[in-house]
Amino acid sequence: MAEYIYIVNKDTLIVKPPKKSPMFLRMIALLFAMVCGVLICSIRLKQLSTSSKINFRNIRVIQIPDIDYGIKQIEIPHDNGTKQSEIPPVNYPKPQTFSRAECAHNPVQFFAIISMQRSGSGWFETLLNSHSNVSSNGEIFSVFDRRKNISSIINTLDKVYNLDWFTSASKNECSAAVGLKWMLNQGLMEYHEEIVEYFNRRGVSAIFLFRRNLLRRLVSVLANSYDRYAKLLNGTHKAHVHSHTEAETLSSYKPVINSTSLISDLKEVEVTANKALKYFNSTRHIILYYEDLVMNRTKLNDVLDFLRLPQMELRSRQVKIHTGSLSEHIKNWDDINRTLNRTVYESFLRD
Ligand SMILES: *[C@@H]1O[C@H](CO)[C@@H](O)[C@H](O)[C@H]1NC(C)=O
Ligand SMILES: *[C@@H]1O[C@H](CO)[C@@H](O)[C@H](O)[C@H]1NC(C)=O
Ligand SMILES: *[C@@H]1O[C@H](CO)[C@@H](O)[C@H](O)[C@H]1NC(C)=O
Ligand SMILES: *[C@@H]1O[C@H](CO)[C@@H](O)[C@H](O)[C@H]1NC(C)=O
Ligand SMILES: *[C@@H]1O[C@H](CO)[C@@H](O)[C@H](O)[C@H]1NC(C)=O
Ligand SMILES: *[C@@H]1O[C@H](CO)[C@@H](O)[C@H](O)[C@H]1NC(C)=O
Ligand SMILES: *[C@@H]1O[C@H](CO)[C@@H](O)[C@H](O)[C@H]1NC(C)=O
Ligand SMILES: *[C@@H]1O[C@H](CO)[C@@H](O)[C@H](O)[C@H]1NC(C)=O
Ligand SMILES: *[C@@H]1O[C@H](CO)[C@@H](O)[C@H](O)[C@H]1NC(C)=O
Repeated sequence: MAEYIYIVNKDTLIVKPPKKSPMFLRMIALLFAMVCGVLICSIRLKQLSTSSKINFRNIRVIQIPDIDYGIKQIEIPHDNGTKQSEIPPVNYPKPQTFSRAECAHNPVQFFAIISMQRSGSGWFETLLNSHSNVSSNGEIFSVFDRRKNISSIINTLDKVYNLDWFTSASKNECSAAVGLKWMLNQGLMEYHEEIVEYFNRRGVSAIFLFRRNLLRRLVSVLANSYDRYAKLLNGTHKAHVHSHTEAETLSSYKPVINSTSLISDLKEVEVTANKALKYFNSTRHIILYYEDLVMNRTKLNDVLDFLRLPQMELRSRQVKIHTGSLSEHIKNWDDINRTLNRTVYESFLRD
């Protein structure tokens, strides 16, 4: 929490100087800055003493757009940093509920799609599941009981990776990759140490899927949460749609974004994503960005390679809800445009 306050204050001060400021206002701003400075120092000191290891320099890393928008595939050694393994661990699960028959000798890749709400993971998962050898079982941990404590998490994971978990996405005895979709706020961060240990022990690869434009994500979060109650599509709430008409109906709602908390809200998402990457750095993983996949579907081949799957065309019936310029999707656009003007998040306005 403490580091969070620090960042917010820093940004608000640097980023939003008062526009027309008479002497009096300037004095107040200066005083405020001094008080905040002292506060920041004390918070920082407290942090140093509580062995919090978050490195502030890393916080901005993921959203500064690189020139190279390619997928970063990072393969990290498993055993204590001593053994470099290019080849993922090979698993031959023995399900209790059925026989793998003639495919019993085919290895199965274990994976987890690690993402945040409204980052394209639903779409991505339908793409993966259109592959005849992939079974991705959805957001299993959205059910609280399954993530209540680490033993219920491990039990659930064991069932999934032993192929004993049944959903509409379950395939057959010839599934060559099995996994699930897991949001950061579903126990993943809370029990990260045990989960990383589990991933490395059982050879689970992590597929990180994040969104570069966090302002667009925020619009989607707000619109989706509004629709939970408004149920714009004939009284049914839909998080994903399959037609442009439905997409248009859903995007007709324009959320008002809180410009006061916007920068800290964006920052919080960034910090969380970065923490997750840090926590799971020792697992075999790949980092994907939603925007890159939308722009270039061939990037999906990299994912299939990562999962050691035969190449195949992947399809999804899902249709993007918020298309076109962001200014058409935010009610208080001028305010938001002003708030992010000349900040590190300025590019979110244009993308
Ligand atoms: C790393 O390796 C060292 C020496 O082989 C061992 O003592 C230590 O327990 C290992 N640490 C982990 C986290 O596996
Ligand atoms: C974890 O939750 C399960 C299921 O709710 C419960 O049976 C078990 O006792 C809990 N385990 C621990 C260690 O709290
Ligand atoms: C993929 O599935 C097909 C049909 O179910 C099966 O014949 C094939 O062996 C599977 N491929 C792998 C790599 O398991
Ligand atoms: C909603 O109702 C209209 C008219 O009754 C119909 O044309 C449309 O397909 C329905 N949409 C959905 C999402 O059910
Ligand atoms: C906007 O955010 C600020 C700061 O977090 C908060 O005090 C305020 O209540 C929020 N406004 C609305 C309308 O939610
Ligand atoms: C993960 O580890 C690699 C190599 O050890 C390092 O270069 C990279 O910066 C780390 N990434 C994060 C997000 O900590
Ligand atoms: C699309 O992605 C593939 C695979 O990563 C890459 O080889 C190709 O150059 C990309 N194409 C474009 C137009 O960026
Ligand atoms: C946002 O503000 C900039 C000036 O900073 C202006 O040039 C631009 O037209 C505005 N964008 C929209 C869509 O209003
Ligand atoms: C953005 O900042 C520039 C430079 O201070 C200013 O000229 C412009 O009017 C600002 N745009 C908005 C939309 O506030």
